[in-house]
Amino acid sequence: MEKPTKIAAPKGKLGVLTPGMGAVATTFMAGVELVRQKQAVPVGSLTQIGTIRLGRRTDGRSPRIKDFVKLARLEDLAFGGWDIFPDSSYEAASKAGVLDPHHLALVKSSLSKIKPMTAAFDHEYVKMLDGKHVKKGKTKYDIALQLKDDIANFKKKNGCTRMVMLWCGSTEVFMQQHEVHRTPEKFEQAMKSNHPAIAPSMLYAWAAITSGVAYGNGAPNLTVDIPAMQELATEHNVPIGGKDFKTGQTLIKTVLAPAFKARMLGLNGWFSTNILGNRDGEVLEDPGSFKTKEESKLGALEYILQPHLYPELYKKIHHKVRINYYPPRGDNKEGWDNIDIFGWLGYPMQIKVDFLCRDSILAAPIVLDLVLFLDLAQRAGLRGIQEWLSFYFKSPMTAPQLYPEHDLFIQLMKLKNTLRWMMGEDLITHLGQEYYD
Ligand SMILES: NC(=O)c1ccc[n+]([C@@H]2O[C@H](COP(=O)([O-])OP(=O)(O)OC[C@H]3O[C@@H](n4cnc5c(N)ncnc54)[C@H](O)[C@@H]3O)[C@@H](O)[C@H]2O)c1
Repeated sequence: MEKPTKIAAPKGKLGVLTPGMGAVATTFMAGVELVRQKQAVPVGSLTQIGTIRLGRRTDGRSPRIKDFVKLARLEDLAFGGWDIFPDSSYEAASKAGVLDPHHLALVKSSLSKIKPMTAAFDHEYVKMLDGKHVKKGKTKYDIALQLKDDIANFKKKNGCTRMVMLWCGSTEVFMQQHEVHRTPEKFEQAMKSNHPAIAPSMLYAWAAITSGVAYGNGAPNLTVDIPAMQELATEHNVPIGGKDFKTGQTLIKTVLAPAFKARMLGLNGWFSTNILGNRDGEVLEDPGSFKTKEESKLGALEYILQPHLYPELYKKIHHKVRINYYPPRGDNKEGWDNIDIFGWLGYPMQIKVDFLCRDSILAAPIVLDLVLFLDLAQRAGLRGIQEWLSFYFKSPMTAPQLYPEHDLFIQLMKLKNTLRWMMGEDLITHLGQEYYD
């Protein structure tokens, strides 16, 4: 793909729509509001705090990323979304129990104004949930058209010049690619005939893409990981990205596993288990939704360790992932990892990780960065899968012939080099011979 010649400035308001206004979406909205009020620092956000080195190490040029690529300002974001429950963003944030009352009090007036639109929902795809705040229609196609109207109305009402949609809804049941996902025509026909291979999340994505709105997928749902959506994204000049925010346990996994491989240390097994008590944990109690999550969490090790290249180190890995719904913990998840590695002459060693994390606190800055980078990508004329955003995903989408890159630091290098490339700066190879000439 050619380098973008001129990137349109981020003028006017950027509409941010989230299907799903639960713990993650409302923590994101509240956090942005607190930063705007100068009550908080956007910790965890590469776009807000991160810098990028340009030129030689001796040049001393390290601007903030948000200034270098001219990202939309937080003041210019307008929030909206859909949920199967009618709670305002403030009520949903209060129920989610992520933020302390003093933070909630500071955002009460602005978050109370954000009310969800009626959702495109079908209990068959999220078995643990049921809500009444949902759209009605004869066919899935009718519902998708209603979503398109919602998008257009939101844009007009809020005076937005651009829009991004980011899925923050629940994890749907496990689905695989089906014949009806192959082309836009087949997909549309399947919506009209209420085909079971069309999940609600796909209706949102179809509505976004065909309205020229960028789409990111924060859950492991299949949604845009199908040829029909990718073709539509190219046709409508829309960037897309996914799947599944890389937040707690997988973040650590994609840091540790590359370290073992870098040092040629072997691995016999990796047992990961979690306890969490938020609604996401409840949804994942259903085996269908858990399977979707499990596939997403399992993929990383195989790709990072490349057992076909290193059979003596990684041929037989016992990799297990468990998620247990345990209400007392709420959003404060505990993730344990037991890692059985081996070193010189095959001597075994163990590593134990106990990460007492906060799920939505880790996810919120990722939502912010994805919104701003997807908007940048669209202004730069990039369309289709944005592989450079793999940094944010557990299960990164790639072109069909490629394997995904999971190593966090390769992902970061790729992201930063993409920004340099967009802006016509030299890429950084880390060769460094020029300093010794
Ligand atoms: N927090 C993390 O660390 C993290 C990491 C990776 C992925 N995720 C994923 O992000 C998503 C959101 O997580 P959460 O903790 O906010 O969950 P949550 O249960 O608090 O919120 C999800 C919301 O989506 C709504 N919803 C479900 N189906 C919908 C539909 N079809 N249309 C509109 N709304 C719908 C639910 O009613 C709920 O309010 C989940 O899929 C989760 O697996 C979260």
